[in-house]
Amino acid sequence: MSVHIEAKKGEIAETVLMPGDPLRAKWIAETFLEEVICYNKVRGMLGFTGYYKGKKVSVQGSGMGIPSAMIYYHELINEYGAKNIIRVGSAGSYQKNIKVRDIVLAMAASTTSGINNSRFINSDYSPTADFDLLLRASLYAHKKGIQIKAGNVLSADEFYEDDRDAYKLWAKYGVLCVEMEAAGLYTIAAKHNVKALAILTISDSLVTGEHSTTIERESSFNEMVEIALNIA
Ligand code: ADE
Repeated sequence: MSVHIEAKKGEIAETVLMPGDPLRAKWIAETFLEEVICYNKVRGMLGFTGYYKGKKVSVQGSGMGIPSAMIYYHELINEYGAKNIIRVGSAGSYQKNIKVRDIVLAMAASTTSGINNSRFINSDYSPTADFDLLLRASLYAHKKGIQIKAGNVLSADEFYEDDRDAYKLWAKYGVLCVEMEAAGLYTIAAKHNVKALAILTISDSLVTGEHSTTIERESSFNEMVEIALNIA
């Protein structure tokens, strides 16, 4: 076991899907996988392994925000040999043409987090998706007629910002949406030479103030998980 995961060696697959919410991890495992085992309950951050079309896959909650998620990314890579990590999460739209329920592939993740300021002093690092996973996600979505958008996203440290218009600067520079983990994932994946991609479903819009309903969230969530499961 590692500090925050109680799985035995070999219980976690090389491909791990990672929603923020541990109950989402449970739902994904129970809905899409066969022969499921639960390998982690430490801190309620549930983790499961099962099979999708005969392929071993794990699903692990990450918690919210870069500090929580990076604990799990680090342990999965360094203690359990994870090779493909696919975040499946929600995001708030920054653009008029990115609507609630749309699916966004995060090609790159800008951030308000300090994680890379303390690594690359006085310089900016660009956390980016693994091209192979990104390409496969795009091709799979195209083949299945699932609409996707792809581009730069923002991984914010604060969900509730003081300035509700702060998003406009990011929007002006083409950032598509805001979430809270991708920049941490892309950075640590690059450091350890593993593949990573964040696939996001738009749950709310900072432009229109709109929020998706639970039912709407579920159907777009299904498509996002379907993409993730079919590319790794
Ligand atoms: N995830 C979903 N919506 C979000 C938002 N508005 N800000 C940050 N993360 C989010």
